[in-house]
Amino acid sequence: MDRVTLLAHQLKAPLSAINALAQGLVRRADRLSTQEIRAKAEKIWRASLRLDELIDTILSYSRATAGGIVLNSGEFDLGELIRRTCREQGEQEPDRPFHLQLRGLPKIVIGDQILLEQALVIVLSNAMKYSRPDQPIEVTTRKRGSMIRLVVQDQGIGIPERDLPLITQPFFRGQNVKKLPGTGLGLSLAWYILKLHGGDLEIESQEGHGTKVTMLLPEMNTTGLSYSI
Ligand SMILES: Nc1ncnc2c1ncn2[C@@H]1O[C@H](COP(=O)(O)OP(=O)(O)OP(=O)(O)O)[C@@H](O)[C@H]1O
Ligand SMILES: [Mg+2]
Repeated sequence: MDRVTLLAHQLKAPLSAINALAQGLVRRADRLSTQEIRAKAEKIWRASLRLDELIDTILSYSRATAGGIVLNSGEFDLGELIRRTCREQGEQEPDRPFHLQLRGLPKIVIGDQILLEQALVIVLSNAMKYSRPDQPIEVTTRKRGSMIRLVVQDQGIGIPERDLPLITQPFFRGQNVKKLPGTGLGLSLAWYILKLHGGDLEIESQEGHGTKVTMLLPEMNTTGLSYSI
């Protein structure tokens, strides 16, 4: 399958789900209980979030390949960004335990808040997609040297050893995820965003046991100006 077709298929799936669910609601609304309406509305919400994430990923990918992503850096509270993003992602799966342990964070970080949030959403949505909805996700931060390490760890299906070296390449998907939807673009973009910040993305995984993704972000330099880009 060529790449444009693959992307079109990825967009089509959540859109078809939204279409079918919304039609069901319109046609049968008077016969459905409040609970049934709520369940369908939640599915529509999840599918539209997926669509939104996909479109953002595709747009950012094409901007990245054209060299068109520039950092719009500013001061922000990284801890607040992490808590808010985890809460928003967690709302999609109420049974999913999220364990946050945020340590060693400076009060203020300098970086592109929107891009860093996008990178975190990509990593969190992978942790959620590739593990059961009742399996916990640990989100921790700590400082090592001048680097902030933001770790997202799941207990899901893991990544086969032979796929690990290729996993951040655009369009690459693991052998064990073919039945699950995805473009293979997310991690390449998250990696790129962290590199733009002078950071990095590390992935450790064991198939069948889970995956640990570490986002490395340099702390603000002593003059308080910016990261080196
Ligand atoms: N937490 C994880 N657990 C298991 N496999 C993962 C995890 N995160 C990434 N992967 C593997 O890395 C591949 C690339 O991830 P990436 O986010 O780039 O693409 P995707 O998830 O397949 O697609 P999309 O980001 O469009 O949803 C995935 O297809 C999967 O094989
Ligand atoms: Mg992904």
